[in-house]
Amino acid sequence: MSRSAIHDDHHATFEAVQQSAARIRAFLPAGAAPSIALVLGSGLGSYADALSDAKGIDYAEIGFPQSGVVGHAGRLVYGRAGQTSTQTGVEVLLMQGRVHTYEGHSLQTVVLPIRALVAAGCKTVVLTNAAGGVGEGLAAGDLVLIHDHLNLMGDSPLRGPNDERWGTRFPDMTEVYDAKLRATAQQVAKRLGIGLKTGVYAGLLGPQYETPSEVRMLRGLGADLVGMSTVPEAIVARHMGARVLGMSCVSNLAAGMSGQPLSHEEVTETANRVRSTFIKLLDGIMAALASSD
Ligand code: HPA
Repeated sequence: MSRSAIHDDHHATFEAVQQSAARIRAFLPAGAAPSIALVLGSGLGSYADALSDAKGIDYAEIGFPQSGVVGHAGRLVYGRAGQTSTQTGVEVLLMQGRVHTYEGHSLQTVVLPIRALVAAGCKTVVLTNAAGGVGEGLAAGDLVLIHDHLNLMGDSPLRGPNDERWGTRFPDMTEVYDAKLRATAQQVAKRLGIGLKTGVYAGLLGPQYETPSEVRMLRGLGADLVGMSTVPEAIVARHMGARVLGMSCVSNLAAGMSGQPLSHEEVTETANRVRSTFIKLLDGIMAALASSD
């Protein structure tokens, strides 16, 4: 399939999602029952190396749409996270990379993997991303816990007929990002001595970065972070009743804030720089979730 063409062949019907979920279950080792789905954003895919008993499968084999963006591997990895000498850890399914709607996919296609992972038994969805820093006091390299979002994509992954087997037509979005999970993340960050700020994530369509005027608008709207993912995934996870935790790595200050033009290289470079800290925090959160399950 041409990477340059607009392709939207993963229509996220109930049947397509069930089929993906069935293929995920078939790929799992006997007796495995992962309860956490983790989506790793730009440059963070190496967290898969921190898993024990890891086993991976290409997105193509489980009906997941594939990304052409550099830094997104396109593999689903099963393994145990947060394992320590005293703990067995927690079983996770980890997505190395995601597709974005700016690549030409509908939001329904973008969220197919999340729907399939929740259908396969993941009741907790952890979403990570690289984001632009909009809020005062943020710096490149900061890790930020998402406490709410602004859907500014001009579309919803729930647009179209609602399938009640997934969830209700008009799902409540009062607490998209689970307060208990956020508290756990903060406790872990504190214990590990890792700075973790909190903020509101604005999800935009992209792929172009914002103009300085758009960044001022976003700040006025209450956004601290800006990015091109996460929001649709969080919406469908909530639609299906899963708990959501969201974390951003500030890869750059948003346009007009630093006097420098923005580049995808800067985004991946920052992600590389803070990768080990981010991974330490993620692993600590997984260990905490393992002991609270
Ligand atoms: N804007 C939008 N998306 C992003 C940015 C940004 O500045 N950085 C990383 N993803």
